Amino acid sequence: MTELADAPTTDDLDGRVSFEVNGVAVTVRRSHPHLLAALREELDITSPKDGCSPSGQCGCCTVFVDGKAIVACQCDMDKVEGSSVVTLEGVDEAERQTFADAFAACGGLQCGFCIPGIVMRAKSQIDKKGSALTRAAMAPHLGAHLCRCTGYVKVLDAIEAVAQGTVCAPALANTVGGGGAKYEAAPLALGDRGYVDDIRVPGMLHAALRLTDHARADIEAIDTSAALAAPGVEAVFTADDLPGELRVGIIHKDWPGMIPVGGRTSYAGDVLAIVVADTRDHARAAVDLVEVTYEVHTPNTDARAALRDTAPLSVWGTDSNVLSTSAYTRGADFDDAFAASAFTVHETFQTQRIEHAF
Ligand code: FES
Ligand code: FES
Repeated sequence: MTELADAPTTDDLDGRVSFEVNGVAVTVRRSHPHLLAALREELDITSPKDGCSPSGQCGCCTVFVDGKAIVACQCDMDKVEGSSVVTLEGVDEAERQTFADAFAACGGLQCGFCIPGIVMRAKSQIDKKGSALTRAAMAPHLGAHLCRCTGYVKVLDAIEAVAQGTVCAPALANTVGGGGAKYEAAPLALGDRGYVDDIRVPGMLHAALRLTDHARADIEAIDTSAALAAPGVEAVFTADDLPGELRVGIIHKDWPGMIPVGGRTSYAGDVLAIVVADTRDHARAAVDLVEVTYEVHTPNTDARAALRDTAPLSVWGTDSNVLSTSAYTRGADFDDAFAASAFTVHETFQTQRIEHAF
């Protein structure tokens, strides 16, 4: 279980907010952008995960405030004053184990990042409705939660098991090809298994990325002097500081790790500088002080247009917009079945790119 931070040592109580977390009185900085930041960054309570803050879209940061399930990244610090906050760390140990066993036995998690928030949402409904909670009644509440890898059927199985009081006894697989619970399912379900963003070590530094302001632009100058002089900043890195190859990639080494002066950006996620500071807030504040001079161009935004011979290169420093070419062959069975079909439909389907990670 996470321990709460010490009481404040400053007399500047106007700049602080007092409330209760898991039954313990706490006082934190009012300057936090939202409750989630106060919980994670000042109190080191990490079961509420940060999947999208401050967007309030993924549900990973769901906690109880005065008994109501809310996403903590949408909760202003002013609203927290005097309230009672409960995170998964503060839930009764037997109840935590019940949820952990159910999610493990039902296969209700894979990476587990979304599950602590879902457990809090499920608890809020089970607290209200008990065994009368149906799958149909629970399902709409999962609309507030994005699960990238498990889906929702097994999550509902687990919640139904808890609501119905079904005793679950998950066991790891012990035979090749046999079924079993996921390794570390319980700490994952409860948010106790740390992810990279949950790492806390003494003296740890924090990095923030200076992304390009333009999806396609020539970088004429990068001035890091103001960022370097900002409070708490230890270092600012640009492409000039990268040792070895500038480009990385799985199929071709065509992706610049950072865009140097003289280079050209290819998308809105290109990195121009990295600021390293003593706190996350200092790093994020200083990254805005990195001054960049651009010559802006029209970005390539149409993949089909980018395939034309006359299209400008999408990625600076490459010689083609074609990453790779694959050929697929259908067997005779398919052609025969297709020819014998009474109706055939020809259509082009498109979907967005899926990034399998938070
Ligand atoms: S981090 Fe709060 S909803 Fe995604
Ligand atoms: S288990 Fe839901 S995001 Fe991975």
